[in-house]
Amino acid sequence: MTYQAPSTKETHSIVTIDVSPDRVPRHIGIIMDGNGRWAKQRGLPRLAGHSAGTEKIEEIVQAASDFGVKVLTLYAFSTENWGRPSTEVSGLMRLVAETLNRELEAMKQQGVKFQHSGSLAEIEPDLAQLIRHGVEETKENDKIVLNIAFNYGGRAEIVKAVQEIVAAGISAECITEALIDEHLYTAGLPDPDLIIRTAGEFRLSNFLIWQAAYAEFYSTPIFWPDFTSEHLAAAIRAYAKRERKFGMIK
Ligand code: IPE
Ligand code: IPE
Ligand code: MG
Repeated sequence: MTYQAPSTKETHSIVTIDVSPDRVPRHIGIIMDGNGRWAKQRGLPRLAGHSAGTEKIEEIVQAASDFGVKVLTLYAFSTENWGRPSTEVSGLMRLVAETLNRELEAMKQQGVKFQHSGSLAEIEPDLAQLIRHGVEETKENDKIVLNIAFNYGGRAEIVKAVQEIVAAGISAECITEALIDEHLYTAGLPDPDLIIRTAGEFRLSNFLIWQAAYAEFYSTPIFWPDFTSEHLAAAIRAYAKRERKFGMIK
């Protein structure tokens, strides 16, 4: 079967994946890396790379949706990214707000259910409110979930889950994997099948460390601002050829 991803930008051609629907990952997580290196290569400030990176989101969400992916989690800002220079951090916050403002109408039209994984407690109130508003406005959509991992850390997420479980007075023998799942930011979402990392790195950097226990990992040298629906299709094709055994023998 052939799927076509009509391009959102006229500069891109129509992309097909030629993968049977049962081989398409239900949930893809993307570690959007390489914005800084992309900018450096062009003699531009790092924030220009981040800005160019936000321009790719609409195309990739649309392509994922057209390919039959049901959940797309994008790693936008980690709990460790607070350690960057304050101008970069504030620039990233501004870009998140601008991107959400710019894309909300399109998400509503295209059936995108916007979700957030991470803590809003440390986020400036206007931006936190904008994120809550985006979640609320799109909650009835069901074409694809766009889950933004923003101020997200896998370890902090597990700490949060344990704190909630202890605060609820749940006894030790009642603690199961399913119970922990219910207390993660991703509660209700399937585990990621495929984790893509751009810019040639091979690490999770605290991304979905619980949920990705059996995810397939795919690394591409492409910097995030250069990542297109064709690169996404290539990752899905590679995934479709993998044999997943989950510890068992085929
Ligand atoms: C990823 O790009 C975006 C964020 C972490 C917010 P980087 O900023 O990490 O880009 P490199 O790794 O320096 O190239
Ligand atoms: C991971 O990228 C975080 C995001 C993409 C948001 P980093 O660039 O922060 O990760 P490290 O520092 O290279 O591991
Ligand atoms: Mg990086």
